[in-house]
Amino acid sequence: MDLSEIDLEYEKRIAALSAVKLVENGMDIGLGTGSTAEFVIKEIGYLVKHEGLEIRAVATSKRSERLAIDCGVEVKTLDEIPTLDLCIDGADQVDSGLNMIKGGGGAHTREKIVASSSKRLIIAVDETKIVPSLNRTIPIEVLPFAQAPVSVQIKKLGGTPILRMEGDSPFITDNGNIIIDADFGVLKDPGGLAMRLSTIPGVLEHGIFMRPDEVHVGEMEGVRVLR
Ligand code: 5RP
Repeated sequence: MDLSEIDLEYEKRIAALSAVKLVENGMDIGLGTGSTAEFVIKEIGYLVKHEGLEIRAVATSKRSERLAIDCGVEVKTLDEIPTLDLCIDGADQVDSGLNMIKGGGGAHTREKIVASSSKRLIIAVDETKIVPSLNRTIPIEVLPFAQAPVSVQIKKLGGTPILRMEGDSPFITDNGNIIIDADFGVLKDPGGLAMRLSTIPGVLEHGIFMRPDEVHVGEMEGVRVLR
């Protein structure tokens, strides 16, 4: 199905609103990064402002933190709240086993830390993110010092490393590192590759993610929840 930009925005928004229905008064919430997560943050801000919802949030990027503060959401650090009730985030791809690739926005290291600090992980996506098997490039956050050796190791594992750029310069994450987008084609064993990538010295974090508790998929007909 061909979806216009407006259709995609609609699907992201309804998925985000559906996920936010799980937010309860008094909860501590992890806030993801990306265009879908922005709908989540704005909706939570609306509930705080207009319905008196009392929540505290930890953001997964500087961009999400700024938006949350602008929307009137109380933002804390993981030092202040090491365990969260719920994390709501977007994703770049979700396969039939609910394995995911994240990090299109380069925020996956903090996203993974916040997700793993949360009792429940809820993902909101438009329908184009749902695939039979993961097949997009895997974002890998790498210490700049280790760019060359990490690229060698990615090639040894059968991948093609591509340094992410922003204009003429390497893209730099909120943590001061670079991103290598690694093309492994169709991932036959995402869990096995995830383990191998984690053991490469200089890799801070890769974008293959744990299975979430729920995926809220926005479709033109409504929201479908995958568990
Ligand atoms: C950022 C992410 C995002 O969740 C992912 O890129 C999806 O973004 P969007 O909702 O804009 O499609 O992992 O690092």
